[in-house]
Parts: sequence; C-alpha cells; structure tokens
Amino acid sequence: MDMLGMYPTFYVPGIGTAWVMGIIGVIHVVASHTSVGASFLFALLETRAWREKKPELLVFIKQYGMFLLVFSYIIGSITGPGIWYAITVASPRGVGGLIHNFVWVWASEWVYFTVEVIGVYALVYLLGKIDPKTHLKLTWSFALASWATMLLIVGILSFMMWPGNDRWYRTGSTSDAFFNVNFFAQLGTRTGAMFVMAALVGLLVASRLKDAALRRSVVRFLAPIGLLGGLFAVLMFLYYLRTLPSNAIVMLNTHLLPVYAKAMVAVFTVATLWLLFAWWRPQQVYTSLALAMFAFIAVFGVWPEERMRESMRKPYVAGQYIYGNQVIARDVPGKGIASEVDTIAAHGLLKLNPFVPAHLREVTDANELEAGKLLTKMACANCHSLEPGGPLRNLPAKLHYATDEDMIAAFLRGPLKYGTQPYMPRIDLPDDEVRAIAHYLAAVDRTRTANPPGGQQPLAAIQPVSMRK
Ligand code: HEC
Repeated sequence: MDMLGMYPTFYVPGIGTAWVMGIIGVIHVVASHTSVGASFLFALLETRAWREKKPELLVFIKQYGMFLLVFSYIIGSITGPGIWYAITVASPRGVGGLIHNFVWVWASEWVYFTVEVIGVYALVYLLGKIDPKTHLKLTWSFALASWATMLLIVGILSFMMWPGNDRWYRTGSTSDAFFNVNFFAQLGTRTGAMFVMAALVGLLVASRLKDAALRRSVVRFLAPIGLLGGLFAVLMFLYYLRTLPSNAIVMLNTHLLPVYAKAMVAVFTVATLWLLFAWWRPQQVYTSLALAMFAFIAVFGVWPEERMRESMRKPYVAGQYIYGNQVIARDVPGKGIASEVDTIAAHGLLKLNPFVPAHLREVTDANELEAGKLLTKMACANCHSLEPGGPLRNLPAKLHYATDEDMIAAFLRGPLKYGTQPYMPRIDLPDDEVRAIAHYLAAVDRTRTANPPGGQQPLAAIQPVSMRK
C-alpha cells in the first residue's frame, strides 16, 4: 500500500500551532500595511510639496521614512519569513499547494519587494540630494512597487479562501487561481485599511514635529486620508462578504460575528472619532495619545480581521481542496490531485502517514493512549488546542469535558465521518482509530475533571492544605 505524501506533524502545546502563525501574521499585517500605505502618503505629500512649493513638508517625509526603516521594515522583514517558517511546519501541504500554483507570483513579489526596500532607503537618504523632480519619480515608483507586493500577495491569500468557480479545478492555471472571486474585494479592503494604518502611524510621527505650523498642516493632510481609507475599507469589506463561500458564511454567522461584531464596530468608531479629533485639534495630537490610539486599533482591529479570515476558511486551508489537517479533500484534475478522504477511511492515518513511528502503526491495548494522542494531533490539532483552556477552540471544551469514550466516538462516527459540520473536515477513520482518539480525549477530559480550574473547584480542593487529609 502506498503511503500518502504527508509531512511530520508539528504541534505547539498550549496555544496551538495556528496561534503562533496568527500572532506573527498580525504583527506582519500591521507593519506591512503601514509601510505600503505610507508609501502613498509620501508620494501624495511630496507631490503637494512640489506643486505648492512647500519644501518643509519633506521634513515630515524624512522623519516618517526613518521611522519606517527602523520599525516597519525590520519588523516586516523578520515576520515575513517568520510566517513562512510557521506555515511550513504548521501546514506543509497547504504551503506546497500554494507554491505549486503561485511560484512565479511569489518570485515577482520578491522582485517588487526588493525594489520597495531599495526604494525606501533611496527615498530617505537622497532627499534634498538629488533634483526634486527625480526624487518625486522615485517616491511614486516606491509607492507602486509597495502596492504591487500587496496586490500579488492578495491574489494568493484570496485563493486560499476559494477559487470561486469550477474552472481552476479543471485547468489548474495560475491566472484562474489568482483572479478568483474575492481577489478585488480583498485587495480593496486592504488598500483602504493600509491608508488608515499609515495615517495613524503618521499622526504618531507628526506628534514629534517641533514646528507647530508644520505639524498642523501634516495632521490636517493625514486625517482625511485616513477617514476616506476607512470608509473605502468598510465598503469593500461589505462587498468582500458577498464573495464568500457558504461554509464561510455559516462560520461567520454562528461563531465569528457573535464574538467580534462589537469589537469591529468599536474599533471603527474609535478610529473615526480619533481622526476627526486630530483634524479638528491638530495641536492636541500628543505622542502618548497617538501611540495609545494606534496600539488599540492595531490590536483590536487587525487581530479580529485576521482571525476571521483564517477561521472563515475552515475546514480548508487552501482553495477548498486541502483541509486544515492536511488531507486532500477533493479531486483536482487540473493538477493531477486526487481526494484522500476515502483512502484514509479504508486504511487509516496510522498506516498511511510515513512519519508515524513503527510501534504505532497498529493500535493495541498497550499503545492505545499514545496512538490516540498522535492521531488527534494529526487529525484535529491544526484547528483545535488539545489542552483544556487552550485558546484555539480547545477540544476538551468543545466536547463539554465528556469522559464517556462512547459518546466521543459517536461524534466521530456521525458528524465527522459524514462531514455534516460545514466548518469541519470530513474525517472518516477506521474503527480502531476512532476508538483510540476517543480513548485519548476522554483521558484528557478526565485529568481536567481531576484538576478543575479555579472557580469550579470542588470544596475539598480549595480548602487550605492543612485542612486536607
Ligand atoms: C480544519 C479545521 C478542523 C479540524 C481539522 C477539526 N475541527 Fe473540529 N471544529 C472546527 C471548527 C471551525 C469548529 C467550530 C467551532 C469554533 O470555531 O468555535 C469545530 C468544532 C468542533 C466541535 C464542536 C461541535 C461543533 O459543531 O461546533 C467538536 C466536538 C470538534 N470540532 C471536534 C473535532 C475533532 C475530534 C477533530 C479531529 C478528529 C476535529 N474537530 C477536527 C474545525 C476543525
């Protein structure tokens, strides 16, 4: 029997692998969107400085450019490869699928990114040293190259949600994958959001300007751009919602909006009020206030947005053909890929994954717990923390801390086997593997029942040690 082309399973205990990816991703999104947005602010501001003969505006560009060099470009360039490392170990087949579709897109992105990095150095260090018209051209080239990196990455990210039509599955062509249904919607949302991020960071930089008149004119320039960017992002986000597959809509309505809707409205309101206030009272844009506002909006705005995009894609990691747990979910004739769900149902994961240790290939009474743990990691841990209290939909809580193996097994033999939950993969396993998973999960739940977390402790546990027998 042939093994499947699986990779070793990587699991980060506690927070779960997906959260590692999420944390790196959010930092990256803040840094990268700020840089791309700022590149356009520079181009617009420099055009204005040139037209209205206000060379003092260039002081701000230099300061902001320097700030980006130190923060955004360093943080962005560390977290960018960080995302690669994290996703390669967390979701090797997801990454493999994307590389097989987009290798040249990534190569082009890398070229534009190189132009962008050279551009930001040239922009900062050549200011005032070359003739202004050439410098202005340089700044616009920097802006376009920056946006090109976003455009290319969004083609890949939006394909991860779904191609949106059947064509790609037949042709396997890069352009069918790239120009998928939610490409423009996502590109628009991110383009609007990048102006908001860049304006917020711009206010922070502007708050440090010594010249009050300059500070005022820069703040009055930034605030409306941030407001318009925000409005555009919201409109494009509403359009984006209309380009989603049905599993994403279910996930959104049942699990995400109830948790995140209020935070999103709050972030939008705070950002709008802050930008209006800045425009109204430019002299009161203090550094501490600007920093607090930026931090609030970056954390509470970007985290839910990225979390939602990742969650809505469930059960798939890419193109609605690779499940989060790395199993190929359907045939893709255009790429010569065949579904693996039924093969796994017939032979089981322990026999088909080449990285399973030899002593676990067969479930026995002696190794059932160990085999169950490995199986749960392979089949579930991409989307669920295994430990009670883990932040990523931890399985003990999802199972309501059930300790009854038959009940857990019934969930695996019913909803999971038949794929009735639109947001979970169809996981059909041979009976010995189902029992091993149930055995392991029940054991985890039992340890939790034995050591309950604070608040729900039985009386005996909260008595002072001296009172216990
Ligand atoms: C590709 C991602 C993915 C994988 C793999 C996955 N799940 Fe889930 N599971 C989800 C999502 C998404 C939810 C929705 C709950 C949420 O987001 O809070 C969920 C919910 C659940 C629930 C709660 C019931 C429900 O319908 O909301 C249980 C129980 C569960 N999963 C068990 C498992 C087990 C056991 C495995 C492995 C055999 C597994 N899941 C594998 C994504 C996944």
